Amino acid sequence: MNNKGPRDQYLIERYRRFLPVSDDTPVISLAEGSTPLLPAPRLGEQLGLELYFKLEGLNPTGSFKDRGMTLAVSKGIEEGAGAVICASTGNTSASAAAYAGRAGIRCIVIIPEGKITAGKLAQAITHGAEVLSVAGNFDQALNIVRAIVDKYPVQLVNSINPYRLEGQKTGAFEIVDSLGKAPDYLSIPVGNAGNINAYWKGFNEYREAGLLDSLPHMIGFQAAGAAPLVLGHPVDNPETIATAIRIGNPARGDQALDAAAASGGLIEAVTDDEIIAAYQLVASSEGTFCEPASAASLAGVIKKQSEGYFEEGDMVVCVLTGHGLKDPDTAISKGREVTHVAADLDEVVKILAL
Ligand code: F0G
Repeated sequence: MNNKGPRDQYLIERYRRFLPVSDDTPVISLAEGSTPLLPAPRLGEQLGLELYFKLEGLNPTGSFKDRGMTLAVSKGIEEGAGAVICASTGNTSASAAAYAGRAGIRCIVIIPEGKITAGKLAQAITHGAEVLSVAGNFDQALNIVRAIVDKYPVQLVNSINPYRLEGQKTGAFEIVDSLGKAPDYLSIPVGNAGNINAYWKGFNEYREAGLLDSLPHMIGFQAAGAAPLVLGHPVDNPETIATAIRIGNPARGDQALDAAAASGGLIEAVTDDEIIAAYQLVASSEGTFCEPASAASLAGVIKKQSEGYFEEGDMVVCVLTGHGLKDPDTAISKGREVTHVAADLDEVVKILAL
């Protein structure tokens, strides 16, 4: 962490002493991490909370996946991988494609047909991944990928890969580095349940290193139509507008429930309507455009606040996991109407009622 200079832009260099890397590990980086922790004073005041957003959409490929991918691909190269593979609801595939391209290795991504947003698909294709779209959902795609890596020499880069979580735990480090302590609550969307575990690991490691006194309560939110951890059983046909977390059988579900419980937190569900309301609110009142799945974290905080869950003035960090530009279709279909008008000054002025 004293390593100033261009390499300090690489997450692996900044947090080297907490990561499973050696001098022999080739560092494949796109200058990820170091994302802003943006105070949200207007929403915070409305909610009676000290509210912050961790803007993970400002990573190189527009989501938090880059933190894990720099490590998974670097370790893959160190271990001799010539190809990486993942199942994905979109962001993992975009990130894997970018890092594999940077490393000069093959990238295979398996996505659920028709459920990948335009931005994410555009990224995977353009970064050079081989994209297979299966007539099924994420859980089925992941089963196929698991079977492939059991048999063929291809490196898995889903968050089942422990290096993914090692990289993603740095999000927690950055929050503590920035605040000088942990928040009272860390609110985070839950899909395949990797990231909530990664943050919990990060906070715990900082505490063990003497850099943190008290741990945050971890509060995770699934979409109501894809909420296996809330229901207590897998969901065969998960459905939600937040396609990033459209997952019915999370790979790290039990571990996530344990983390939430150990922290004195919870995992609950928010409806698509609550997600979209939060998505539009954060964009219109705090200037922050995140994708729908990311807004589950804020939707959850709004819901819990209305139930009297928090104390006045509690410090809450919502992790906004991916950029709004990933999903332009939802933004446009759910957003305000555009008014069409002739190219005529009088007409324009009349409509604006100026
Ligand atoms: N937010 C976004 C924007 C995501 O893309 C994901 C997961 C999550 C939250 C949930 O994180 O799975 O660690 O609980 N996206 C994966 C993908 C599944 O394939 O891109 P999680």
